[in-house]
Amino acid sequence: MQIRVRDEGYGIPAADLPKIFDRFYRVTTNNMHTFPGMGLGLYISSQIVQRHGGLLEVESELGKGSVFTFTIPLGSS
Ligand SMILES: Nc1ncnc2c1ncn2[C@@H]1O[C@H](COP(=O)(O)OP(=O)(O)O)[C@@H](O)[C@H]1O
Ligand SMILES: [Mg+2]
Repeated sequence: MQIRVRDEGYGIPAADLPKIFDRFYRVTTNNMHTFPGMGLGLYISSQIVQRHGGLLEVESELGKGSVFTFTIPLGSS
């Protein structure tokens, strides 16, 4: 099963993309300091997906938006 969520938000700088699934990591450019958060959402999400044998991935372009995709194998439990 594959679920894909697309937004037309700030986008994420390429240099930050490998780190956004790390615990407590937050991007500090743009106006992102105005958004409250703890850098845990994507960490927890990717852990849940991985523990179901799947993968959570992101593609993003700064100023254009982001696409988050996760894949989970079906019928193996
Ligand atoms: N849809 C998005 N568009 C742009 N940046 C995002 C998006 N989702 C996450 N980010 C960036 O990745 C960081 C980590 O996200 P997340 O783990 O959800 O933590 P939080 O939302 O608590 O800051 C965010 O602080 C933000 O900089
Ligand atoms: Mg978040």
